Amino acid sequence: MTAAENRSAARAAQLLHFQLNGEAVAVAAPPHWTLLEVLRYQLNLTGTKQGCDKGDCGACTVRLDGAPVLSCMTLAALVQGRAVETVEGLGVGGEPHPLQRAFAELGAAQCGFCTPGMLMSAAAYLDDLATREAPAVDTGEISAVLGGNLCRCTGYTKIVQAVAVAAGEVIERTQLLAEMSNDDGGMP
Ligand code: FES
Ligand code: FES
Repeated sequence: MTAAENRSAARAAQLLHFQLNGEAVAVAAPPHWTLLEVLRYQLNLTGTKQGCDKGDCGACTVRLDGAPVLSCMTLAALVQGRAVETVEGLGVGGEPHPLQRAFAELGAAQCGFCTPGMLMSAAAYLDDLATREAPAVDTGEISAVLGGNLCRCTGYTKIVQAVAVAAGEVIERTQLLAEMSNDDGGMP
């Protein structure tokens, strides 16, 4: 194979199959592309933002198998057969996610560029919170969770408050569901 043929083989698109926001997708992309590039430039999902493009700002955060990852630092080939969630998949059946509601109600976004990444980091945190035995709203923990998501507009106070409000809602709902299932367990 000539050098030119080698280069063109290296550039040949690979076919990726993965779950995207609960739907199976198949997309062709050059093997050196990142997940961020595939999402924005191949799938047209521009909710995930391209900030620094080098792992510093967190604007590109999405979830991979539930865990928050920087999509600008994730080779697209690594998502083969896995589950990706983006901000477009947050919320269910047209209803906003509690985080989206709280961000809107508390004015936690100004330019909004950092917001999708913040929401995805916080959503993973809230899912984890819901699995704990004695979950509690902890603003120190929320600040730590958002430590990799930089914001140049808000000063973070309202962002942390919004995540705390959503965390309170999630904890309340989790406790309610646990009580209901305990009640069902007592039924003859
Ligand atoms: S765009 Fe990925 S960390 Fe900044
Ligand atoms: S709202 Fe502008 S960077 Fe966060």
